[in-house]
Amino acid sequence: MTVLTSHRQRLLQARIVELIESGGAQRGRSMRLRVGPLYADFSRSLLDIPGLAALCEQARAHTVPAAVAAMFAGERVNVTEDRPALHTLLRAPAGSIPAGLHGEGTAIAETRRKMSDWVNRLNDEGFADGSRLRHVINVGIGGSDLGPRLLLEALPAARDRPQVHFLSSVDGHALNRLVTELNPAETLVVLVSKSFSTRETLLHGTVLRQWLESQLGAERASTRVFAVSARVAAAVQFGVAENQVLPIWDWVGGRYSLWSAVSFAVALRLGMPDFDALLAGGHLMDEHFRSADVEQNLPMLAALIGYWNRSVLGYNSLCVVPYDPRLRELPHYLQQLEMESNGKSVRVDGSPVLGTTVPVIWGGVGTDVQHAFFQALHQGTEVVPVDFIGIVRPDHPYHAHHHALLANLLAQSAALARGTPAQEGADPHRHHPGNRPSSVYFLDALTPQSLGVLIALYEHKVFVQSCLWGINAFDQWGVELGKKMAVSLESSLVAGEMPAGGDATTLSLIAQIRSRA
Ligand code: F6P
Repeated sequence: MTVLTSHRQRLLQARIVELIESGGAQRGRSMRLRVGPLYADFSRSLLDIPGLAALCEQARAHTVPAAVAAMFAGERVNVTEDRPALHTLLRAPAGSIPAGLHGEGTAIAETRRKMSDWVNRLNDEGFADGSRLRHVINVGIGGSDLGPRLLLEALPAARDRPQVHFLSSVDGHALNRLVTELNPAETLVVLVSKSFSTRETLLHGTVLRQWLESQLGAERASTRVFAVSARVAAAVQFGVAENQVLPIWDWVGGRYSLWSAVSFAVALRLGMPDFDALLAGGHLMDEHFRSADVEQNLPMLAALIGYWNRSVLGYNSLCVVPYDPRLRELPHYLQQLEMESNGKSVRVDGSPVLGTTVPVIWGGVGTDVQHAFFQALHQGTEVVPVDFIGIVRPDHPYHAHHHALLANLLAQSAALARGTPAQEGADPHRHHPGNRPSSVYFLDALTPQSLGVLIALYEHKVFVQSCLWGINAFDQWGVELGKKMAVSLESSLVAGEMPAGGDATTLSLIAQIRSRA
């Protein structure tokens, strides 16, 4: 860090626009990169070539290339749970399964076949009783929800494909609307839960199963309940027919699992060819990530620049702004990917992190958010780095709209960096300080393949940052305490008993709820 601190001292005096001017073609070559359909421009960072070189050295000093090789090879990089993290294997073509992972490769291939059989059968023939499949309810939360949601918002489906509805939070209103509006005969329920113990998912699942049974009888109902889980036996015990359970495995983290049968609803709606193209996109990024040198490695550069902004310059958050409403779920998806992975303050060896880890990830869709929170990005007291994401070729014929959209993206990124010159006597309220960093990503078009490339980029960025911070990106112990406490509070709410060890605030809030219920 001391080397980086000296670069920090120098660069805090610098202006991004001057760095771009003076950096010339070399800055362009070092800070602009293409991987297949994805182009990235990091040149609006408060960073120069020597600073970037020092960051690349930092990556080597933290043995990042070796950690990447270990992850791909299936080593137990998730040390606190003593597991590998093999999401990359889910998208590896048959010929490129690493030695020692053939068992896992076979399990993946078998599950993909099973999923593909069900997708084709249900879409072509409907249910065994002859009813068509028109609706899918995806019941799941966190990684069992956010990935499929992102994919289905982003990618178009053929007209005759089933509509997918999501039940994630344990919200009775959403559940009530679905059981009131949908025809059970034409509805498939898929319970997506790696652990098959998530309260939200099981509560929804119980009510939906009862709904199907009460409307269709037990036998017809059973053909409409599917599960995706790493605990196949628990799903079967819950009442799902075994051939309707699609396995996932301990070695894929929930937030890294959209490449697996967790995307069953996605495959039902988009079809297997699109799902395969998504995997191919992820694999394209994997191949680049595992083979390119640090200096020319897109996820590594993205990670190093994020690390620079967060841990060296001290910026607290990262704002993600896709200029395409089809990517509106991306900031939510990235919140879990980045904050559940790297929201840690203890290092792999158990010692405390000295400094900071993940920034707050937030965002929204451009141009809407320009008319909401961009004021604060331009003139607020916090400097917030922004990831701008644009799509070069739209899927509509309104070229004037698209040019206006991309012009806004270009303008915002430039304005944040450039600001306005400080002029004596000028109105200070109208002054834009500038010097606010951003990155720009372009996808040639929004396709299953290009989206796969983009998602894999962020996954790998997160992993590299976890190496720099010395933390484990693949566990999430921090979510456990609140979950446990909610279980005991549920019975207190029902029975009116005070929870053992409840604090005065909780007791008073329970009393409030009960007095007004
Ligand atoms: O929020 C905690 C978490 O464990 C996530 O990591 C996970 O994606 C989500 O809950 C859902 O878990 P499951 O798929 O096991 O129901």
